[in-house]
Amino acid sequence: DIPNLHEVYKKHFRIGAAVNPFTLNTQSELLKHHFNSITAENEMKFENLQPVEGSYTFANADRLIDFASAHGMGVRGHTLVWHNQTPAWVFENKDGSAVDRETLLATMKAHIETVVSRYKGIVYAWDVVNEAVSDKSGELLRPSKWLDIAGEDFIAKAFEYAHEVDPKALLFYNDYNESVPEKRDKIYSLVRSLKEKGVPIHGVGLQAHWNLKHPSIDDIREAIERYASLGVKLHITELDVSVFEFEDRRTDLTEPHEAMLDQQAERYRQFFEIFKSYSEHIESVTFWGAADDYTWLDHFPVRNRKNWPFLFDEKHRPKQSFWNVIDAASS
Ligand code: G3I
Repeated sequence: DIPNLHEVYKKHFRIGAAVNPFTLNTQSELLKHHFNSITAENEMKFENLQPVEGSYTFANADRLIDFASAHGMGVRGHTLVWHNQTPAWVFENKDGSAVDRETLLATMKAHIETVVSRYKGIVYAWDVVNEAVSDKSGELLRPSKWLDIAGEDFIAKAFEYAHEVDPKALLFYNDYNESVPEKRDKIYSLVRSLKEKGVPIHGVGLQAHWNLKHPSIDDIREAIERYASLGVKLHITELDVSVFEFEDRRTDLTEPHEAMLDQQAERYRQFFEIFKSYSEHIESVTFWGAADDYTWLDHFPVRNRKNWPFLFDEKHRPKQSFWNVIDAASS
């Protein structure tokens, strides 16, 4: 018998998976058995929910919410404000010129009010602002239309608007390369300054798009310690473990080598041992998918290159990675 992952980790944190309308069908049994939280991979992003000003398309997101409710799962909302997957109309007047700050903030406020109030009481945590910190050395915030037009307090505003609508929802800042020291320090100072200003922010989301070598275990621990020292909650929000190094652009593999799967299993064991040891701070661990039959990594950083980043294989059978994660719960 295969133990339920979420049951095994019940004392520590929720176990989540990102889903989309396709995997909600093809992976539904696996999702029901192992996960007690889901996140929309794309269906709650700005361009999906409000492609045209004032006309909202909630059908796909509603379906996911219904699935979660029917099976007693929580939902992590992803994401309200992001530089990506946001329609052009948000930033442009009818004549193509850029909107002004007041107009942009009014658009943001209306979107947040509509979306957050619709899913109030169901979505337990929102990624309010996603990936606003720059990867470039010496630059704190990523250049974006939100930043250019509204100025840096677009971040604080987003949290304030969301908190007004649903004071009980946990509000997160979410980012990747979160364990890389230079970016970690920038995320830390952004969140610290928001806290100092009294902005209602409750947590940091560590995306955790990791691979067989990076980041190092020390860098992961250090990142968790630093963020936790701010007195915020931590969620692991998009975990996957690529079997390729980032620089590895090979496209010839049709199945993973044994050695890759062994290393992956070892990495997963270490990660869950760490998560467990910080479970006072970490209250949810979400994978960016559920099984190897579907992953965004099949198209990144190389198009149409298969990857195998999860605990379950293409036929939804548990991999060694799964058993190591189960072991880590009792070690
Ligand atoms: O829906 C269209 C389809 O109509 C069109 O024919 C097709 C052609 O390429 O594209 C489809 O849209 C794709 C969409 O996923 C839905 O599948 C987009 O091209 C593709 O870019 C988009 O990728 C998503 C990506 O975010 C966009 O930035 C991935 O699925 C999604 O996994 C990924 O998720 C992000 C998180 O939100 C934030 N953190 C990083 C993470 C991975 O990039």
